Amino acid sequence: MHKSVSGFSKLSKSEKIDWIVTHYLSGSEASKKTLLQYLNSDKKLQQLHDEFIENTISNYYLPLGIAPNFKINDTMYAIPMAIEESSVVAAASKAAKFWMSRGGFKAEVLSTTKIGQVHFMFHGDTAVLESFFNIVKPKLLEATKDITKNMDARGGGILDIVLKDKTEAINGYYQLHGTFETLDAMGANFINSCLEQFSKTFKAEAQLHLESPIEIVMSILSNYVPDCIVRAEVSCPIEELADKNIEDPEMFAKKFLQAVSIAEAEPYRAVTHNKGIMNGIDAVVLATGNDFRAIEAGVHAYAARNGQYASLTHAKIENGIFTFWTELPLALGTVGGLTGLHPLVKVALDILGKPSAKELMQIVAVAGLAQNFAALKSLTTTGIQEGHMKMHLMNILNQFEATDKEKATIVDHFKTHTVTHSAVVQAITAIRQ
Ligand code: MEV
Repeated sequence: MHKSVSGFSKLSKSEKIDWIVTHYLSGSEASKKTLLQYLNSDKKLQQLHDEFIENTISNYYLPLGIAPNFKINDTMYAIPMAIEESSVVAAASKAAKFWMSRGGFKAEVLSTTKIGQVHFMFHGDTAVLESFFNIVKPKLLEATKDITKNMDARGGGILDIVLKDKTEAINGYYQLHGTFETLDAMGANFINSCLEQFSKTFKAEAQLHLESPIEIVMSILSNYVPDCIVRAEVSCPIEELADKNIEDPEMFAKKFLQAVSIAEAEPYRAVTHNKGIMNGIDAVVLATGNDFRAIEAGVHAYAARNGQYASLTHAKIENGIFTFWTELPLALGTVGGLTGLHPLVKVALDILGKPSAKELMQIVAVAGLAQNFAALKSLTTTGIQEGHMKMHLMNILNQFEATDKEKATIVDHFKTHTVTHSAVVQAITAIRQ
């Protein structure tokens, strides 16, 4: 059986499905049925999804949930979240409701600059390169005018280009380090187009005016955006933290701060702590058609910016006021890319009131902060397993294809019993016998 293929991309979708089923799924009709079942019967909608990527054979669904009751800068939001993990939407909703009656979330965009670099090699005199760069810089900007015209008209564009000497890191290595304002666009295409034009012009000018050649290695934006920062915060007097799971708010605040300090000091905990923050962030980023891999890479790099991976959230108690906050780099867009293409993304952005990129940065940072608040509140009080396992119960029941009647009986049973995977399996087996 040949497991390799040439010209796979040229096959029709049904030929691709047949090929994968024959060669990697032992001809399984059931697998083929599943692949086909997830295709949309609306041909136009399916074609749209087919064309997002290459070699599409089916659709991979994630649930789209809503976390309501988010009060952010005194405006109410219901936040769409695309995520497969149970408990995340519930936790976000709980944190939203908790803070709604305690002043809500405050969020503020602190900066919006993005970065892109042309990486190149040069083995001549650095001083000569520097003066050449200063002469050629206006030409680099001039040569990108067609690309930047629309962005310039809206008030964005190229902010600056500097020459960076990186020869201490790698012999002969320099950069053209560009800074950009891309307004409501995430800006990857814009930045990369500008950079590729910089490199063409730079190389052409160098060939005319420099004795030693420059060799362009690559031109690409950076997903590390430490100058594209949003801050989100909640605060209230300690005594107002009281609720049904927080009988002693002083004690709660103290333990909460300890939990945050541990994540600030201890990388093993920081990774899990930040993973919880990313549960909220990625879900909104995905629902709004943004690139969650870019966000993940940039956020985690930022979490390690001081040389040790650490918490993205912080907490303090001052004059009896509990304050919990985060500052995060988030390069997000609300125009361009998938935002105008994916029908569900359009709906998600409509639910959020068609936010600007800055507003979306605030909403996403708040979702992350809320998620972390919910996680730390559970962890430092009841523990997370109680809530988790209740949600997990439904997933296990679905795995066992429990009928509605079986579900009702088992959910009732677990009102007074601890949910564990084996206990649920036992309960299903018992009622089926
Ligand atoms: C689970 O997806 C996320 C948590 O582990 C986060 C945390 O520990 O802070 C609950």
